[in-house]
Amino acid sequence: MIVVETEDLSFKYRRAEEYAIKNINLKVRKGEFLGILGASGSGKSTLCLTLNGIIPNSIKGKFEGNVYVKGVSTREVSPAKLSTTVGLVLQNPESQLFNMTVEEEIAFGLENLGIEADEIRRRINWALKITGLQGLENEFPPNLSGGQKQRLAIASVLAMRPEIIVLDEPTAQLDPIGREQVLSLITLLNKEQGITIILVEHNTDYMLSFADRVIVMDRGEIIMEGKPEEVFEEAELLKSLGIRLPASIKIGAELKRRGILEKAAMTEEELIEALKNRL
Ligand SMILES: Nc1ncnc2c1ncn2[C@@H]1O[C@H](COP(=O)(O)OP(=O)(O)OP(=O)(O)O)[C@@H](O)[C@H]1O
Ligand SMILES: [Mg+2]
Repeated sequence: MIVVETEDLSFKYRRAEEYAIKNINLKVRKGEFLGILGASGSGKSTLCLTLNGIIPNSIKGKFEGNVYVKGVSTREVSPAKLSTTVGLVLQNPESQLFNMTVEEEIAFGLENLGIEADEIRRRINWALKITGLQGLENEFPPNLSGGQKQRLAIASVLAMRPEIIVLDEPTAQLDPIGREQVLSLITLLNKEQGITIILVEHNTDYMLSFADRVIVMDRGEIIMEGKPEEVFEEAELLKSLGIRLPASIKIGAELKRRGILEKAAMTEEELIEALKNRL
């Protein structure tokens, strides 16, 4: 089942000269893990903002084409209503946290939806458990570590029970431990909770291991699309776009160039296996 579909989608910000995204045709299946790659300014964040209706409902500009979320055009529903289907997590967790305690932060969106107290309680407990924030219910969010703040932002989104979560560089501001916590949480949400994930992330090693499909954006357009191992096969093109290659791919590409291996794109484990077989 297709849960998100964009149809000839283009968007130009007000007063901008160029379109930030152009002719995007994308279909995302239920339960899929889609990775988005691209250099700075290629339109990744703009695309994310169209998926939960912030563009065109809150951010205005020239919006062409359509985005359908579960068959409904985002032109026809408010972002508040859409947030129960598509959750958005941004790069900077601080920008999404404004309550006095962890628990209030998670409850906030639910209270606004008019959900009854028992159900709110259940959802808070569930979100705390999944994100590993149990025991921190009464903490003041600014006192949390970076990884905890980002997991709290994810918990607040999760409490809305969205089927789809869009994450725009959620680990960019985190230290390696925080990054690891957030990436493992994203994997768990997809693989164990069946949530559809759309993730902008520069850690291509992670994409190679966990994304079902990746798209590569360049100057507002999707220029490549496929399974990560297929896309990363185009090592030279990706490098020219400034996209970091997974470590195993860099080594694999060099070994392929020297005729030692047949295939370049491989995860670390596969690379080790291939080398063992060669030796
Ligand atoms: N609010 C805005 N007003 C005008 N132009 C904007 C606005 N936001 C982004 N743009 C422009 O739209 C284009 C795409 O930007 P976008 O932020 O979507 O790229 P990105 O791939 O997310 O980049 P980054 O990796 O730096 O986050 C860029 O040319 C950018 O300058
Ligand atoms: Mg961005």
